[in-house]
Formats: sequence, structure tokens, C-alpha cells
Amino acid sequence: MHTLQDLAERISTISVSSTMAVAAEADRLRRGGADIVDFSAGEPDFATPDNIKRAAFDAINQNFTKYTNSGGVLELKQAICERHKKDYGTNYVPKECIVTVGGKHAIFELMQALVEPGDEVIIPVPYWVTYKDVVNYAGASCVFVDTDENEGFVLRASMVEKHVTPKTKLVIINSPSNPSGAVFARAELEKIAQLAKDRGFWIMTDECYHRFLYSGEPYSMATYPGIKDNIVIAGTLSKTYAMTGWRIGFALGPSQVIDGINKLQSHSTSNPTSIAQKAAIEALSGPQDSVDAMLAEYRKRRDFVVARLRQIPGVKAHEPQGAFYAYPNVSAAFTGGITTSLQFAEKLLAEEYVAVVPGEAFGTQQHVRISYATSMHELERGLDRMHKFIAARQSCGRGA
Ligand SMILES: Cc1ncc(COP(=O)(O)O)c(C=O)c1O
Repeated sequence: MHTLQDLAERISTISVSSTMAVAAEADRLRRGGADIVDFSAGEPDFATPDNIKRAAFDAINQNFTKYTNSGGVLELKQAICERHKKDYGTNYVPKECIVTVGGKHAIFELMQALVEPGDEVIIPVPYWVTYKDVVNYAGASCVFVDTDENEGFVLRASMVEKHVTPKTKLVIINSPSNPSGAVFARAELEKIAQLAKDRGFWIMTDECYHRFLYSGEPYSMATYPGIKDNIVIAGTLSKTYAMTGWRIGFALGPSQVIDGINKLQSHSTSNPTSIAQKAAIEALSGPQDSVDAMLAEYRKRRDFVVARLRQIPGVKAHEPQGAFYAYPNVSAAFTGGITTSLQFAEKLLAEEYVAVVPGEAFGTQQHVRISYATSMHELERGLDRMHKFIAARQSCGRGA
């Protein structure tokens, strides 16, 4: 008979993604007949564009259905490098690129290839859930750097610098940020790049939401002069082309790092799905107007969500500058048995059937994440319910 002690210790260093836990509970209630408004999903509500779908059908019809190189086909690596060059002016070549099974896979593998026990990894707060788990799984320590919600959660180089030690191995940059939608100033990112060069640490820039920017010019830290030996990029087609289920991501970085990841991938997933690779080539090299159309729609929703949240008494909501998440402070509703955003989210789901992700998942205690990658109709319904829920708690709090 096996006992729980038989599990490898490293598996206890990680936990199930809490964003998935909320979605699972919402799903359970929905199956029981509840009319759920779901703001928890971090994925576009748009369909994958037709030209991309057609490329996948063609791949199947042409029997492109076998193993490929474990790191992806050359044509796709070229398309990734070309797209990155067009969008940001970088000069990566295929040997500095690997195709992965989604962006999360690229991040996991990069962490396995670069960090180890004794290393410190700097993570700005609020952070995307997965970062701390993949750092822990690699045996390194997380060093969390707080940002200020009154400044819209932006990261400044001075905040990073304060936490750099001789053990600092890597700094994670995610701008636009999940969950806050913050976009870090280019000047600050340049200072962080210079710091990485001076102090000899890696930067991992997670460019998941790079194409969803509401103002300013697109910028990749990989263009900073002389940074190429200190930077790795994790990218994904999931959000940009509404392809979450296709599982295509990539990493760009020095060829030695890419070779290291390729070893790992060759013994774990092998190649990303051949058919999805063909679709990804079309996504990256074909017309880009679907991305602009999605961005325009997200902007409309962002404006609506922020305005609507600000109408709720006591709720503080900064304006996201990218991605598709709002991250309001809901502590005004911490009354009548609610003292954390986790309890807030649980009660909001149980009483009003609105699913949001509690801030604890992202390292803060007073916020919840609302994904506005859902229709205006759902946003209206859900925010009306949230308004009612918070207003009711405030009036009972005043009476208490
Ligand atoms: C910040 C961030 N990075 C990376 C990913 C990975 O996306 P995927 O694995 O679907 O490509 C996500 C997905 O939610 C994300 O929010």
C-alpha cells in the first residue's frame, strides 16, 4: 500500500493554479443549474480567426500529422523571429527560438534551464500565479517586490534594485501585467535591463499580452543594446490570436539556453502538435487585422468596466493600460464576516453567482481580478450583481 509520503518532495512545492480552482467551482454550480457570470477565465471569448483554422484543416488534409522536430518546425521558428522583428525590431534567428506547448510550458522550461537551489528570483507583485510555483519547483527562492496600487501597480527599476543580491539569478517582467493590466514605463524597463547587465542576472520577459496595449508604442526589452546574453523571452499565441486551446508558445534567447530547453522538451512533450504548428505559421505570417479588432473590443470593455467599478461605493479601480483584466480594490466590502479577498470571492460566487479570482492568487489581499474577455452583456450583468453585493455589505457594515 502506498502512502502520501511516497510522493516526491518536489511536488509538494507547488499547488494547483487558483485561477483554475475558481473556474472549477463556478463550473460545479453551473452544472447544478446556477446562472453564473464568469469573470474568472483568462482567455479571449473570440473564436480563432478563420484563416488560422483553414491552415489547420489544410495541414490535416495534407497529412501533416506526424512527429516534427521536438523544438518545432523551422518554418514556424522563422515566422516567430520574423513577427518579433516586425513588431519590436529584434533580430532573433531560428537557433535562438524554440516552439513550446503554450507560453506556460516555455516559462516552466526556461525556469528549469536557468535557476536552481540557492538562486533568488525577483517577482513583482501582483504576479501571475504560475511564476512562484515554477520558481519553487526549480528549487529556487521567490523574492517578491511590492508595487503601489496608487501608481497603477507599475514597476520601477529602483524597486528591483533594492532587492538585488549576489544570489539574484533572474527577474521576471510581465508588462502588460496579468492581473493588474499595468504597463511598465519603457525608461524603467531600460534601467532594469542595464541593471541586469551590470549585476549579471537574467531577465525573463513574459510577453503574453504584448499585442494588447491601449496606449504607447510596443516595446520589447530584448531591443535594449547589449542585453541579448541576459534576456529570455516567453511568448504565446494563446491570447493574441484567440488560440488558447491550440497550445503554441515559444521561447527566444541565447542558443545555449534554447539547446538546454530542447533537451528537456525532447524527453517530455516532444514536439508541439504538428497541426497547431501549421496554424501558428498562418497566425504569425498572415493578416493581423483580427488582433486589432480584438484590441478595439477590449478597449471598449475596459472603459465600461472601469467606469462601472468606479460607480460602486468604496471600490478603487485603476485603469488597466494593457491585457484584458481589471484589478479593483474591494476592501470596502470587508464587513460581516469577510476579511480577505478570498472570502469576498467565495461569497460573491455563492450569493450572486459571479466568479472572480481573489487577489491572494496574485499576492495581494484586497483585490479581485475581473477578466473582461467576455461579452458586454455579461459584463453588465456581473457588475450589476457585484454592485448590489458590495452596497449591501457596506450598509450592514455601517449598522454593525
Ligand atoms: C502572464 C501570462 N503568461 C503566460 C500565460 C500562458 O498562456 P498559455 O500557456 O495559454 O500560452 C498566461 C496565461 O494565462 C498569462 O496570463
